[in-house]
Amino acid sequence: SIGNNDSRGALIVLEGLDRCGKTSQSSRLLSYLDSFGHSVELLRFPDRSTNVGQMISAYLSKQSHLNDHTIHLLFSANRWEKRSMMETKLKAGTTLIVDRYSYSGVAYSFAKGIDIEWCKAPEIGLLAPDLVLYLDIPPEKAAERGGYGDERYDHLEFQKKVAQCFQILCDSSWKIIDACQAMEDVEKQLQETALDRVITCQKGKPLSFLWR
Ligand code: TMP
Repeated sequence: SIGNNDSRGALIVLEGLDRCGKTSQSSRLLSYLDSFGHSVELLRFPDRSTNVGQMISAYLSKQSHLNDHTIHLLFSANRWEKRSMMETKLKAGTTLIVDRYSYSGVAYSFAKGIDIEWCKAPEIGLLAPDLVLYLDIPPEKAAERGGYGDERYDHLEFQKKVAQCFQILCDSSWKIIDACQAMEDVEKQLQETALDRVITCQKGKPLSFLWR
């Protein structure tokens, strides 16, 4: 500790389309921050381990059917059930690297045609990220990477709409990273920004809430 009572961990969110490389980059970023001796943990949404998460997982794998508004609220509930744990960890000085968050929540539902303000409403009051790292990849390129599975959203046309919505949500606080670069170059860019933000939060940046 650097002896500041308001010192806390940083909430770092990685966002992007399916196959943009978020998941591998999240664990690389974890090792990097860990190597500096920072307390750091990885989370991902959806968290399929909870009861709500299992309903989401069944929906995504097409084992169950839910209407668009209902699944939207379940994704949001899945974040709400982790909120107090996240706040406790951040206040205890642990940095959280989160693979997808409310931006995915809004983008994927908006892509189905749901009103954007309605999509944002259940996210109000969740912890706001200190940093959003957006791994930018053209939908066609992501599709070429293959490995599109058989999940509900694994379709090029749908991913194009999601990409448009991420563009609407993105503001000047986001760090946009070209995800078509070599993995090592993407990794480097994430590292610099993330470390900088971890240090800012250590110095006592107050927690803030969605949506500013
Ligand atoms: P995953 O592949 O990162 O586990 O995410 C599963 C899918 O769920 C992915 O296509 C994005 C989508 N999604 C939503 O539609 N709403 C959300 O709130 C989140 C977190 C993910």
